[in-house]
Amino acid sequence: GGRSYRHFVPLDYTLITDYGKSVVQSVSPTPDEIAMKSSTLRRITEICNNLVPGSQIIPFGSLVSGFATKGADMDLIFAHDSLHPQPFSHESNIPVRLANEFLKRGFEVDLLIRTRVPILKIKTPSNELGSRPGSPSAQETLKEDLDEEPWPENISCDIGFKAHLGITNSYFFRTYSQCDSRFREMVLFIKQWSKNRDLNSPYFGTLSSYGYVLMVAHFLINIVKPPVLPNLQLIPPEPDTPESELRQDGFDIWYFKDIAKITSGELLPGGKNEMGLGQLIYEFFQYFTTNFNFVSEVVTIRSLGGVMYKQHKGWTSARERVGETTTYQDRYLLALEDPFEITHNVGRTCGGPGVRRIRGEMQRAAQIIRKISTPVAPESPALAA
Ligand code: GTP
Ligand code: MG
Repeated sequence: GGRSYRHFVPLDYTLITDYGKSVVQSVSPTPDEIAMKSSTLRRITEICNNLVPGSQIIPFGSLVSGFATKGADMDLIFAHDSLHPQPFSHESNIPVRLANEFLKRGFEVDLLIRTRVPILKIKTPSNELGSRPGSPSAQETLKEDLDEEPWPENISCDIGFKAHLGITNSYFFRTYSQCDSRFREMVLFIKQWSKNRDLNSPYFGTLSSYGYVLMVAHFLINIVKPPVLPNLQLIPPEPDTPESELRQDGFDIWYFKDIAKITSGELLPGGKNEMGLGQLIYEFFQYFTTNFNFVSEVVTIRSLGGVMYKQHKGWTSARERVGETTTYQDRYLLALEDPFEITHNVGRTCGGPGVRRIRGEMQRAAQIIRKISTPVAPESPALAA
């Protein structure tokens, strides 16, 4: 009797690999978009520099890590190392003055000031669509008043005003994505899957893109055998490593950065992982639905072996954390440890229903892949008929 026969047939991942690659291809930004974004970044930096000489615009997020999808926002930080310790006192009010610079160029502008540090959200002007007939478009006004080239349309940027670990972790994941192209492919695929299945809304009880990046990294570094990626945080620094590469804001930020040495394979003594994209996608879903314990375990990147328990971190019951202007609800239903800010649960945005939906969708995905990847045995009735 071949009751569970099908489950013993090794899966053929060709279809899911092809599908995965086509998804990655279709969500990747075009060279045109990438060029447009670099020039936008240059021009925004120029505007900031004219307003505050010596200031800098530091990109982070998917722009730096290489995990950007088509039309992704640009995450930026306005920084300037002035001699004044309080650059954002009410007299200088740089965020407001910067907001005005973009307003007069026809950008959509939204300055959030109820947050701990102000956030300036801007969007480049769209050409003719918004303007009334007979009146000059924002871009035309711009040309008259400022004598500037038109801006590329509909690029959104978030500008923060305080440097933070987000910059460091973006470069960290950029290094990892340069080690093996399957990391970026996995991230883009999982990001797209999470959007299609409505699992990527941190404000509505599911997970941020960054959360999914952590899950993929955990799987490729610590879980799949042999690993696709070495654990760069566990390779000790040389004794003469400068302090700035070791610690930031009181957290350990060291990781190994020598790409040539990483790609040579010598850091993966277990041999190279040769799995195709399809198999990695399947095993990712399988791992999170059957091996990983959402109730007791923590998704971690830095730890040897990758197994860590909520109990161990004291991440057990929800608690309130009082911030400067708001009170946060820290939840630990889905525990994702940030690689550097290890007290921060990136999965805090997930509520009970969100976690159940994520798990359910992972089960569904694994089932579909099993179905389309089970080869039909030559002697089976399906072929014989
Ligand atoms: P897309 O915007 O979807 O293209 O992805 P992204 O890679 O830019 O991620 P996201 O916008 O979710 O986050 C932006 C950056 O904020 C991340 O790359 C991290 O460096 C940083 N970050 C640090 N902690 C958190 C966190 O708890 N949640 C989120 N969302 N971002 C964090
Ligand atoms: Mg982003």
